[in-house]
Amino acid sequence: MTPNLQVSLGRLQLRNPVMVAAGTFGYGVEYRDLVDLSQLGAIVTKSLTLTPRMGNPPPRVAETPAGMLNAIGLQNDGVDAFVVETLPRLRAYETPIIASVAGESVEEYVRVAAKLSRAEGVAALELNLSCPNQAHGGMEFGVSPELTAQVVAAVRQATPLPLIAKLTPNVGDIVPVAQAAVEAGAEVLCLINTVLGVAVDVRERRFRLATKVGGLSGPAIKPIAQYHLWRVHQALPEVPLVGVGGISSAEDALEYILLGAHAVQIGTANYVQPTLTLEVIEGIQRYLVDHGIDSLEAIRGVVQ
Ligand SMILES: Cc1cc2nc3c(=O)[nH]c(=O)nc-3n(C[C@H](O)[C@H](O)[C@H](O)COP(=O)(O)O)c2cc1C
Repeated sequence: MTPNLQVSLGRLQLRNPVMVAAGTFGYGVEYRDLVDLSQLGAIVTKSLTLTPRMGNPPPRVAETPAGMLNAIGLQNDGVDAFVVETLPRLRAYETPIIASVAGESVEEYVRVAAKLSRAEGVAALELNLSCPNQAHGGMEFGVSPELTAQVVAAVRQATPLPLIAKLTPNVGDIVPVAQAAVEAGAEVLCLINTVLGVAVDVRERRFRLATKVGGLSGPAIKPIAQYHLWRVHQALPEVPLVGVGGISSAEDALEYILLGAHAVQIGTANYVQPTLTLEVIEGIQRYLVDHGIDSLEAIRGVVQ
């Protein structure tokens, strides 16, 4: 018996629950010689903005115990270059392409989403709600239920595509933000983005990142991500969830599924092992076979 790894994220069908996380796998095509992209559940692009961005000045990455701190600052070629140059190459694979949308204003999110919706080959949009909001002094959109609702509702009007809201963990209580995103039209929630942090260089007596503050990712954040995912699953049991944070093995991915995730994303671990996604898919399959389970539904959310 081959277990069925297919999952539905609302209107989005995936052949398996394992995707690459935004910003950690380029646009996807960069990895085509290393990873058979047609095996992935989905490819999530790095976040796209209205115009090209150089990102933050270096140093913008620092190693930390069990993780890394980054302040890339949304470096990307801009949505137009993505649509014209990259998307046609990604369309060659049968893997759903989820375009990550970023913006510094509600209007920017809407304009990026509208351009992506007119392009051929985008399966869904993932809203990166960890972007700094220029109108609110650079605060992340996703820390406020109201701002989250504004962005999601405005993009909902601008696209017929399935909409995923990617939440930030940098909040006291994530549940009201999750509820606001769903009420405003998000069909799927993805959590979490990176956790705010700093790192200090004692020899130089300065911050390790030029921006001082960065986002922590990797194994260090897995318990935080799983905590938020579990709470959101309890509050909104009908909403498909995508778990992301610190996954570096099939076991890590299965933990998320047991806590209620429909699918997972792998980020930082791609830098250590670019083919990890494929190993995780195989490992999930093996677990199901070994335990005589025929689909993921049978184990999803059983740990409450
Ligand atoms: C270098 C780097 C760049 C990232 N860029 C983005 C991005 O463009 N958009 C986004 O939504 N998340 C971005 N993230 C966050 C990841 O998608 C993911 O949510 C986070 O790293 C937690 O997963 P992990 O522990 O598996 O890396 C980035 C993370 C890293 C490490």
